[in-house]
Amino acid sequence: MNMKRYSELDTEMPIGVFDSGIGGLTVAREIMRQMPNEKIVYFGDTARVPYGSKSKETVTRYSRQIVRFLLEQKVKAIAIACNTASAYALPEIEQECPVPVIGVIRPGAKTACSCTKNGRIGVIGTRATVSSGSYTEFIHQIMPEAEVFAQACPLFVPLVEEGLWEDPVTDEIARRYMASLLDHGIDTLIMGCTHYPLIRKTIGRAAGDMISLINPAYETAMELRQMLGEMNLLADHRPALGSTVPQYRFYVSDMAEQFQQFANSIIKYGILASEKIDIYNYSGKPFSAEEGAG
Ligand code: DGL
Repeated sequence: MNMKRYSELDTEMPIGVFDSGIGGLTVAREIMRQMPNEKIVYFGDTARVPYGSKSKETVTRYSRQIVRFLLEQKVKAIAIACNTASAYALPEIEQECPVPVIGVIRPGAKTACSCTKNGRIGVIGTRATVSSGSYTEFIHQIMPEAEVFAQACPLFVPLVEEGLWEDPVTDEIARRYMASLLDHGIDTLIMGCTHYPLIRKTIGRAAGDMISLINPAYETAMELRQMLGEMNLLADHRPALGSTVPQYRFYVSDMAEQFQQFANSIIKYGILASEKIDIYNYSGKPFSAEEGAG
C-alpha cells in the first residue's frame, strides 16, 4: 500500500460503501455498529441490479462509475459491499483508486479459514462470484490445503428481494442448493452474497447445526476499522447532533422510495432519505493518472 497517495485524507471524511442494490446494507449496518463515530455515504445501484448475472467487464465499468461518484462525495475509504463487484472489480479499483479500498471476499475467506476444523469449506454466492473463483483463490492463499466447494444460488437474491425471508419456498430452495455441499462434508459455509445474511436462519436450517455460517460483513467492518486505525483515519467523535449533513447518506440509481422502505427494515438507525442520482453521468473508464494512482 502506497501511503503517500493518501496524504489528502482526514478523519472527518465519510466512508463510501457501495453495492448493486440493497444487499450491501448488511455491510453498512456492521460498519455502523462497529464504528459508530463514522459517517457513511452509501450507494446502491438499484437501476442495474443484479450484478450476479453480468460480465466482469460490465461490473467493473459500473464499479468505476460508482467509485467516481463516491470520490466526488470526498470519502476517505471505499468498502465494496458486494461480493460480485469485489470478485470482479476489486483488483482494478484497488490499483486505480486514490483512496484505500476494501472488498468483502478476503475478509470472508480469512474468517472461514480460522473457523474450519476439517479444511472443507463451502461457498455460496451469485453465479458471477462462484465462477470468478475468488473465494477459492483467497482461501488457498491462507490455507493451501483447504478444499473449497462452491455453489451458485441464483434464486436467493430474488427471494430475499420479494421479502420471502421466512417461507417454505425459500426453505425448499435452500435444501436443494445445500444438498451437494453437504455431500462434500463441509464444516464451514461462507454466505458469499450480501443478501444471504438476511436469510441466515433458512440457510442455517438447511445446512444443519454442525456447519458454521460465515457472514463476511462482520470481518470486513473489522478489517476496515483496523486499516483506518493504522492510517490514523478513524473518526474520534460522533458528528454533532443537528449537523446539516446527516451522518448516514444514501444514494441510489433508481427507485429511491422503495430502497428507503427496504433499508429501514434492515437498518435500525433511521434512514431519513435516499436520493436518486444519475450514475450514467460518471465515466466507467479506467482512472487516469491524475485521478488515481495511474
Ligand atoms: N450484492 C450482490 C452480491 O453480493 C448480490 C446481488 C446481485 O446479484 O447484484 O454478490
